[in-house]
Amino acid sequence: MFRSRGFQWILGGLAVSLLAGGLQAKTITISCGAVGAEKQICEEGTRAWSEKTGHEVKVVSTPNSATERLSLYQQLFAARSGDVDVFQIDVVWPGMLASHLVDLSGYTGGAEDNHFEALVKNNTVDGSLVAMPWFTDAGVLYYRKDLLEKYGLEAPDTWQQLTSTAKTVMDKEREAGNDRFWGYVWQGRAYEGLTCNALEWVSSFNGGTIVNSEGEVTINNDRAAEALALASTWIGGISPRSVLNYTEEEARGVFQSGNALYMRNWPYAWSLAQSEDSPVKGKVGVVALPRGGDDGQHAGTLGGWQLAVSKYSDNVDEAADLVNFLTSYEEQKRRAIQGSYNPTIPDLYQDEEVLSAVPFFGELFETFKNGVPRPSSATGDQYGRVSNAFFNATHEVLAGKAEPEQALNKLDAQLKRLGRRGW
Ligand code: GLC
Repeated sequence: MFRSRGFQWILGGLAVSLLAGGLQAKTITISCGAVGAEKQICEEGTRAWSEKTGHEVKVVSTPNSATERLSLYQQLFAARSGDVDVFQIDVVWPGMLASHLVDLSGYTGGAEDNHFEALVKNNTVDGSLVAMPWFTDAGVLYYRKDLLEKYGLEAPDTWQQLTSTAKTVMDKEREAGNDRFWGYVWQGRAYEGLTCNALEWVSSFNGGTIVNSEGEVTINNDRAAEALALASTWIGGISPRSVLNYTEEEARGVFQSGNALYMRNWPYAWSLAQSEDSPVKGKVGVVALPRGGDDGQHAGTLGGWQLAVSKYSDNVDEAADLVNFLTSYEEQKRRAIQGSYNPTIPDLYQDEEVLSAVPFFGELFETFKNGVPRPSSATGDQYGRVSNAFFNATHEVLAGKAEPEQALNKLDAQLKRLGRRGW
């Protein structure tokens, strides 16, 4: 009774202040991801903004696969639909979606200056700030500390070491009775996530980034072929065949239930692996992804999500205000502690509470700062096609349908055709 009266009083107070300001309560719709606890954490943030402003927020969830999410957005934009005001967009999409997005620079009060410069640059298309950075990402390697210790092994520094230690531990764990145990789980489905995984292999073998910053197609090289050849040995070896259909959440499901030694994933998997009901709580370590041999380099693909306002929104002012709120220091801090989402504000990597919740944010700062970008800036609005061609070629090799050299030759011709008229 008391609660409900208090609630009415609060609502009344908001209505009065909205009216006093001559404003009307609006309903803003935001598209949020729903990977792991993502939707819930998004809703907590939008609720706080609602309480502050009196406007309502409707959160719509979107497909987990970035590739499917992109095609949903493209359909909405093609129809000039105003159904969604705020879009969560991938770090590789500003070039493809810019023409449908509001220039936020007039709404942020300069807040973008507090974020990583490279991300602000990434989100600025032809002088327009088409999205504000929300969280950044880089691929990392999760490993079972307890199991490596049990067998006297160290976290791997090269993919070759990962391959051999995964095999050793897998064989032993199976002998000990866990016949569902695997060495390595990752994202092998034909979608954007495979582009991220395969770029890491190729780049760690010094095989480049598919298309270089000058727009030249570079993928057809021996190092790239070597990287793909090694990865294809994992299928049905240290990784289940079903990895060919895994996205982030399938990989996390196997690892978090205790059935894999290693997992490639993004930082969000940390807070879930550490949650109260997680079978692997307290048993997990995180390091940079391995190098492609002694002369290779550590490479984690740069990922991450931005918030953008649709040009077809009827509520641009309120939508931009919501974006400012969600991308602010305080909200990014809450999301980092609660969901291990990497802040895009460098100062938060010095924050004691953030670092104690997610120690590897500090230890792997360089990995996050120097994430390997996919060639989205170089290929502009063709990036979607480039990525599709790359993940399809990779998937064929992994599925045993093509040899690496043959697949890369074909891919090279395909990409050169796409880029013929300039990207
Ligand atoms: C993560 C990354 C995003 C990437 C996607 C691929 O969500 O943040 O950049 O495209 O994974 O699955």
